[in-house]
Amino acid sequence: MTELLKVDNLRTYFETERGTVKSVDGISFEVRKGEIFGLVGESGSGKSITGFSLIGLLDANGKVQPGSSVKLEGREIVGLPDAGAAQDTRPRHRDGLPGPDDDAEPGHQDRRPDRHGDPRP
Ligand SMILES: Nc1ncnc2c1ncn2[C@@H]1O[C@H](COP(=O)(O)OP(=O)(O)OP(=O)(O)O)[C@@H](O)[C@H]1O
Ligand SMILES: [Mg+2]
Repeated sequence: MTELLKVDNLRTYFETERGTVKSVDGISFEVRKGEIFGLVGESGSGKSITGFSLIGLLDANGKVQPGSSVKLEGREIVGLPDAGAAQDTRPRHRDGLPGPDDDAEPGHQDRRPDRHGDPRP
């Protein structure tokens, strides 16, 4: 089975007044479909910054370094324009159900079932 997410040599550095902080410095892992993945480490070891790097939510002084690779379903997502990764990977309308964009119209009512499976009024 191919991996859903493949992170290869991810490095994320922050530029600060006191120099470069290498928060993530060469982490590699992969997550396959249906797999539950846990990232463990002491406080400050870079768990959150790893996650933020994947979804493009770093503070302005942070940068994923060249040579880092993050592939989602085989597609490289590092370096997409701001927040592009998150936008571009929204679920597609594979099931024929309304998707996120369908609610964009003002006044449009969400008729999808609520979380209990009951139709909304
Ligand atoms: N904007 C920033 N500028 C400079 N350094 C930063 C910045 N954001 C995070 N860091 C540093 O990056 C390192 C990793 O932080 P991170 O938040 O990923 O740790 P963590 O493993 O999630 O810790 P915790 O278990 O406490 O949540 C820390 O040394 C932190 O101080
Ligand atoms: Mg954290």
